[in-house]
Amino acid sequence: MPERGRTVKDRGEMSSHTFTSQGPLKGRIRVPGDKSISHRALMFSSLAVGESTVEGLLEGEDVLATAAAMGQLGAEIVRGDDGIWRIHGAGLGSLLEPKQALDMGNSGTSTRLLMGLLASHDFSTTFTGDASLSGRPMARVIAPLSQMGAQFEASTGGTLPCMLRGASPAVPITYRLPVASAQVKSAVLLAGLNTPGITSVIEPVATRDHTERMLKGFGATIEIGEENGERSISVHGEADLRPQHVTVPGDPSSAAFFIVAALITPGSDLIIENVGMNDTRAGIVHALRQMGGAIEELNPREVGGEPVADLRVRHSDLAGADIDPALAPSMIDEFPVLFVAAAFAQGTTRTSGLEELRVKESDRLAAMAAALDLIGAKVEETEDGLIIEGTGGEPLRGTPEGASVATKLDHRIAMSMAVAGLRSRNGVSVDDTAPIATSFPTFTDLLEGAAQ
Ligand code: S3P
Repeated sequence: MPERGRTVKDRGEMSSHTFTSQGPLKGRIRVPGDKSISHRALMFSSLAVGESTVEGLLEGEDVLATAAAMGQLGAEIVRGDDGIWRIHGAGLGSLLEPKQALDMGNSGTSTRLLMGLLASHDFSTTFTGDASLSGRPMARVIAPLSQMGAQFEASTGGTLPCMLRGASPAVPITYRLPVASAQVKSAVLLAGLNTPGITSVIEPVATRDHTERMLKGFGATIEIGEENGERSISVHGEADLRPQHVTVPGDPSSAAFFIVAALITPGSDLIIENVGMNDTRAGIVHALRQMGGAIEELNPREVGGEPVADLRVRHSDLAGADIDPALAPSMIDEFPVLFVAAAFAQGTTRTSGLEELRVKESDRLAAMAAALDLIGAKVEETEDGLIIEGTGGEPLRGTPEGASVATKLDHRIAMSMAVAGLRSRNGVSVDDTAPIATSFPTFTDLLEGAAQ
């Protein structure tokens, strides 16, 4: 078994940065491609025999980890000088046993989706990851995939490193998700692709639906139904995927940092072009509008089978709000930056039902409570949420001399606190900006460039 979790040092030197207040955010920007869609585009293209092309792929470390893994499994993946990725798929059922462990870096999505895909392939694979990923729970995918016949040898507590022996043939199941997780849903559906018969997932609460949308586009037979108010998704195995051209829309999770930056910075009037507006992802826009945020959707259209719009965001006097826990699955990655918006709102913002935030790249409730407290915000951490008393638009103090926010190998903590730095008197010093490259390598330049 390879060694457990690499440490921060394995990523290279920690790189601290202080984010300070600057002018209003103006003009037009574009954020990189959607991370969830990018992972899936590479995976599904690798399963279709022939050449698929992907335009607008997010070239962040997490997605590159998926590309490298698919290469180890037999796909040929090349980035053209035109920025278009060309993928020659090995074919479903014809993936090759990897010669080395698959190093998933920081990426939970790569790990869980690939565990699903390989659960119905007749060979062994070992998964490893960085210190953050090695602490994250894999039992949530190991449980259903074991029911399908796959065998796992995980580290203590159901974590990485983890060895998987795929089943051939695997057994189709109907699985009701015990946690609202698109990764678990996708893992079971991907295992179902190479499993004879019909594999179904029932989700009590809708989670992002990129897997089902894109699999349909690649020619898989997918049925979506409703049973007693719950969504069911079935895949017919053994599927035959056909090569596609995929256009990846801008990532709403990345856009969220700029939406909040513009809302809290006086004088801002920013257009963020080409942002994915899939209902299962757009919760942050609803929550910020509820707080009084001026966010307009311009030119709504479809890109690559996903709804997209340009967002015009203007500085707004935000008011605290009770955020409906039912919105959580559609904005699960956006809570860190919502907490920043709340720290500058008038009055109290209460969030609850967010236990899942404790098992993301870091414990995001604890990490954000500590970070906001450090910069002078009034924040109380509960078991399943944060309660934040905002400044009413006034700047916060920022990090005290010599102190910096601990990002805990979590890109979204780093970016959220960078945004808080725009409205903090001393600025916000972040201990390590390197994790930002997992999802948004151009973030710092774009943030510093958008201010005029
Ligand atoms: C993702 C699903 C979510 C999200 C993650 C990406 C996906 O995770 O937090 O960043 O691409 O399916 P969960 O399924 O664990 O909620």
